[in-house]
Amino acid sequence: MSGADLLVRGGRVVGLDGVRAADVHIRRGSVHAVGPELAVPAGTPVLEARGRLVFPGLIDPQVHFREPGMEHKEDLASGTLAAAAGGVTSVLEMPNTKPPTTTPELLRDKVSRARGRTYSDHGFFLGATAQNADRLGEYEAEPGCCGVKVFLGSSTGDLLVPDDATLERVLRSGARRVAVHSEDEYRLRERYAALPAGTSVRQHPEVRDVECALRATRRLLDLAERTGRRVHLLHVSTAEEIALLRERRLGDLVTAEVTMNHLFLAAPECYESHGTLAQMNPPVREPRHRDALRAALADGTLTCIGSDHAPHTLAEKARPYPESPSGIPGVQTILPLLLLAVRDGWLRLPDVVRVCVTGPARVWGIQAKGELASGVDGDLVVVDQEERGPLAREWLRSRAGYSPFVGWSLAGWPVATVLRGHVVYAQHAVGAAGARGEVLRFG
Ligand code: DOR
Repeated sequence: MSGADLLVRGGRVVGLDGVRAADVHIRRGSVHAVGPELAVPAGTPVLEARGRLVFPGLIDPQVHFREPGMEHKEDLASGTLAAAAGGVTSVLEMPNTKPPTTTPELLRDKVSRARGRTYSDHGFFLGATAQNADRLGEYEAEPGCCGVKVFLGSSTGDLLVPDDATLERVLRSGARRVAVHSEDEYRLRERYAALPAGTSVRQHPEVRDVECALRATRRLLDLAERTGRRVHLLHVSTAEEIALLRERRLGDLVTAEVTMNHLFLAAPECYESHGTLAQMNPPVREPRHRDALRAALADGTLTCIGSDHAPHTLAEKARPYPESPSGIPGVQTILPLLLLAVRDGWLRLPDVVRVCVTGPARVWGIQAKGELASGVDGDLVVVDQEERGPLAREWLRSRAGYSPFVGWSLAGWPVATVLRGHVVYAQHAVGAAGARGEVLRFG
């Protein structure tokens, strides 16, 4: 792994235990020491943090970067640049590309496409199908593979494992945790078939209703328990699923994740303000769901945040519902939104590290990432809490070019992102170090 020397001087370092005034000394890409007024070898490059907050680099465990096949929406370079611009130094990328990532060869193709072009470290999910279900145990050992992803309900692309028999084959093949998009395909089909003419995006939360999500999640938990296979519930969207997770008490067998969209937007207002730009699967729902998800993130029922960064072009989004594609870009806005949560008192600064760094690192067994401490990769982000916004469209680096959060007043913005000692992004521009992303290691 390539790494550089750097002293990040005079910041306030955020960890799981709190915030402390400290320098961070990175040597050959790894954290060497964290502490006040560190002595470093002459000639070590210095990044002045000047009392600003310093977080370990965020890990976004759910992004769709569209390469290969849909590079007009995003590619590995533009997607990881948006990540770096938001203080995200590691991403796990989803398999619903064209072609979908369903074989070791296709996964290797992504790893090789990423070489020398990316601004964050990266791992790739394999997509489960009826065809590869029994071979996933062998496939998931491929270097750069973070695990297997199952779509229980259709979303963007055609990856799908709708039935329990195939899902059980997937869960019985391999040992690593399996990520699941949990909406029930059979109920989705019934509901789309019965859609009255003129249905608008405002009805999206009823079209893909609470029962779609709850039914699939119940089935998934039953099968996880029966097979003993660890699963990870992606983008939980309902208060009912939170109640179910609490009631079933499955511990580490089932971990779960939430998006910033489900934490910060709510129906019907988001559809009135943003139309199909707020359309995603599973849908953003009424405020009671948002409030239950916030409480579940704060109390640890939800293990981590994933943006589900899902870019589509504005022209594609402008198609009439339901032909308008689902998905909202978001890898760049996780940290700024979490700073609003801290300002508003429903999360604390150490929670940001828990849900965006140590949580995802633990769920996916990501090596050498985590809290800023001796030996981990020197990945960090410096935040200027004086930046109060409004969030400007020109700051966005995703090819999608929009966000439902443009115009929001901020409580801080990432001003420098460091990947293994290299400044990869600073002050709204690519850092001198250029594209330094490498493939993640899992264990
Ligand atoms: O809204 C979504 N968009 N949900 C998904 O599960 C997939 C994603 C995409 O790839 O566009």
